[in-house]
Amino acid sequence: MLKNRRKGVLKVLLVIISLMHFLYSESKPSKGIIGLLLSDLTLERWAKDRDYFIGSAHAQGFEVIVRNANNDQELQNSQADTLIQKGVKVIVVVPVDENKSAYIVEKAHTANIKVIAYDRLIMNCDLDAYVSYDNKMVGEIMAIYITIRVKNGNFAFIGGPKSDRNSFYIRQGIWKIIGPMIERSNISMVCDTFTNNWSKDEAYKIFNEYLSSGRPLPSVIFTCNDQLALGVINALEQKGLAGRILVSGQDAEMEACKNLVSGKQVLTIFKPARVLADRAAQTASGIIGNLPFIPITEINNGKVNVPSIILFPVPVDKNNLKNTVIKEGYQNEKDIFQ
Ligand code: BGC
Repeated sequence: MLKNRRKGVLKVLLVIISLMHFLYSESKPSKGIIGLLLSDLTLERWAKDRDYFIGSAHAQGFEVIVRNANNDQELQNSQADTLIQKGVKVIVVVPVDENKSAYIVEKAHTANIKVIAYDRLIMNCDLDAYVSYDNKMVGEIMAIYITIRVKNGNFAFIGGPKSDRNSFYIRQGIWKIIGPMIERSNISMVCDTFTNNWSKDEAYKIFNEYLSSGRPLPSVIFTCNDQLALGVINALEQKGLAGRILVSGQDAEMEACKNLVSGKQVLTIFKPARVLADRAAQTASGIIGNLPFIPITEINNGKVNVPSIILFPVPVDKNNLKNTVIKEGYQNEKDIFQ
């Protein structure tokens, strides 16, 4: 009887000890800290990237400190200073400004900390690694998708800010496809402009002014992300034109998915955040553990060839929405179709 009771107590103790071990190791990952610097959290996608990144880094035993720069490069640079002081082992950064963020790389290197650019390249510095989707391919896919449907006429382009290398990459990709058509005078670019930010309001203003100017109506508008597409669609809606002009976007945001279904937008480009965040966290953990980093390619940033992992983006229209964005669990079917 006494023996049984002792056995019982022992079992309870063992359960408590393993529970404490579990809790302890959950709250105190032991392999070190990764700093994650985000440019902003205004878009749906960055919160998803952040959450997937933290999940993946935790699973590999790392703690993550996240800072959001609210689109302010000075702030991001000082956040990097703080992370360096805190002794992070590696910094993963979505830069606000492709040039001014070189400060982070230079400063981190003085403390022997490596820097990985996430989604956006950092220019003219000794960047250690770059993990992103193929942004030129984002543009190519947009242009191929559209020119299968419309082969001539007036086209418009509204890009992101010039402080983001991706804005140029996307435009390059689009021009690779439509450049020869412009030369043959099949396509005429009636609007070709970059924005100062990836802002819906700015895109609305640009296109509203365009529509009021009496200039020819384009049959295609390449808007380079879903926020810009939303702005343009708002301007079109006010003139009763939504759904009559082919509008593209990128990011598979909820509003964009709804607009695919209603026909106000024809295409978004899906870049599964889970995969990107996973690859970035693996790269960070590899760098910390001194494991060899096996890049897929190298991308020149104006100073060095940066070892890079570049993933393939996925075109999404209303026909494959279920098999892509919804199947992946990126957006909820009910919310899109409600
Ligand atoms: C990203 C896009 C995003 C945009 C605005 C770009 O660098 O590649 O996915 O929509 O920034 O945050």
